[in-house]
Amino acid sequence: MKKNWWKESVVYQIYPRSFKDSNGDGIGDIRGIIEKLDYLKELGIDVIWLSPVYKSPNDDNGYDISDYKDIMTEFGTMNDFNDLLKSAHEKEIKIMMDLVVNHTSDEHQWFMESRKSENNKYRDYYIWKKGKDNEPPNNWVSCFSGSAWQYDETTDMYYLHLFSKKQPDLNWENEDLRNEVYSMMQWWLDKGIDGFRMDVINFISKDQEFPDGENGDFSKYSMNGPRIHEFLQEMNKNVLKDRNLITVGEMPGVSIEEAKLYTGEERNELNMVFQFEHTDIGNGEYGKWHKHSFKLTDLKTILSKWQNGLDKEGWNSLYWNNHDQPRVVSRFGDDKKYWKESAKMLATCLHMMRGTPYIYQGEEIGMTNVKFESLDDYKDIEIKNAYNDLVIEKGRSHNEMMEGIYDRGRDNARTPIQWDNTDNAGFTTGKPWLKVNPNYKHINVKSQLEDKDSIFNYYKKLIQIRKNNKIVVYGNYELILEDSEEIYSYVRNFEKEKLLVICNFSQNNINFKLPKDIQSKYKELLISNYDNCSEVSLENFNLRPYECRVYLI
Ligand code: NOJ
Repeated sequence: MKKNWWKESVVYQIYPRSFKDSNGDGIGDIRGIIEKLDYLKELGIDVIWLSPVYKSPNDDNGYDISDYKDIMTEFGTMNDFNDLLKSAHEKEIKIMMDLVVNHTSDEHQWFMESRKSENNKYRDYYIWKKGKDNEPPNNWVSCFSGSAWQYDETTDMYYLHLFSKKQPDLNWENEDLRNEVYSMMQWWLDKGIDGFRMDVINFISKDQEFPDGENGDFSKYSMNGPRIHEFLQEMNKNVLKDRNLITVGEMPGVSIEEAKLYTGEERNELNMVFQFEHTDIGNGEYGKWHKHSFKLTDLKTILSKWQNGLDKEGWNSLYWNNHDQPRVVSRFGDDKKYWKESAKMLATCLHMMRGTPYIYQGEEIGMTNVKFESLDDYKDIEIKNAYNDLVIEKGRSHNEMMEGIYDRGRDNARTPIQWDNTDNAGFTTGKPWLKVNPNYKHINVKSQLEDKDSIFNYYKKLIQIRKNNKIVVYGNYELILEDSEEIYSYVRNFEKEKLLVICNFSQNNINFKLPKDIQSKYKELLISNYDNCSEVSLENFNLRPYECRVYLI
């Protein structure tokens, strides 16, 4: 296994809108990020993944881009961006930009041209089709509910949008379009950015027959499509190679076999992918929109499969959270009685695995899900569209849907960062674009920086453990106690060392025995979320609620 800097790094994701507002308009901005670089340095991260900061009408908070070479007005100017890049680099923090090229905004110049006429130069940059008997060209359902096709009067045709109707899909079959994308990427790289996180990049190649999907599901025809590897290799050859970048492809529905192709060392595509099997756990009749439950053994099976699957070829990304997922302490931990313990335990479980860890803003202080009573307090287009579809159109009960939103809605991740216990959590002096979580009085950065036992200081320590122990980066992974529904435990092996990770995912005291071959070895405790880890009985282990321990053997 080759050693690479991006395998040894820890990435921190910033969702700029909710990070820090510097000018009182209620919206986070680039100057706000610059103000907080020292905070990130203190945490010890190496790379910032910056969610989109490009010009955008914000139908989907910046994932609908109207100009790839300009900055969103609310976030600042290109000068602000240049300053951010310079300041970050001075602090040895790299910047990975979000690359959203499956679609643009419908307000992008290309699309405005494209919709004008069938023979416009940009027509073929997007996917236009004739309807079938006054119906859309096929039955695909968009990720944000409803048909994935929008009728456009000007030419009496439909365009494809796998997300909102303000996010028309680009036509990657068109070579001119591909070259424009590559030159735009080069333009950013020439500025000195350090890599790309690629939004739904495994959606860019579509089956050109555009067949109906089962119940409208487009995944078979638009995920990991026929030319996807060709496109990524072309992009690599034209843009990425020889630049020593960090690249990660967001890939819903990716399998291990596919992931090996995307990330294999000799393949010249990407460094790693984001897979979704563990975050989709518990999806049901209404997809993610219901109160879920999960079995620990299912979670272990999924994560272990990925750990082992990319052991020899490829590389894993490790994440619990991002701007699309509910807060992990609410989802897999206990955000009430054992808030602190479970947040630390979950961090341990993930950060000691093999792969590149991603921390999503606020995760390092254990931010939790939120419950707004009124639907109007939610801003996310996915929530709004799903509510219309399931409640208004299909008659699901309001209360049931709200439970789903509380559990899995994306705004859980998007409430502003809780910097301190002053008004609006110190995020803004104005009115925040999305309400702050009322628990900011006791969950905030300021109090955690002052408390040596805080979740923040625990994350800091986990990052240092990774930096000081090659085994955490390069060791292999071996699940133990597979059948336990309470304990997630694994061993990492590297050269002559072993790392033993034990996490209690339950709120009970749990007694168990370690496998014979690791029972009797001398153990150095590297980290735990409880004090008084009195000498372990080599026979019987007892863990307190949500307790975790990491031993070097
Ligand atoms: C995935 C992004 O993470 C999500 O926030 C966005 O809505 C869709 N892609 C569309 O760009």
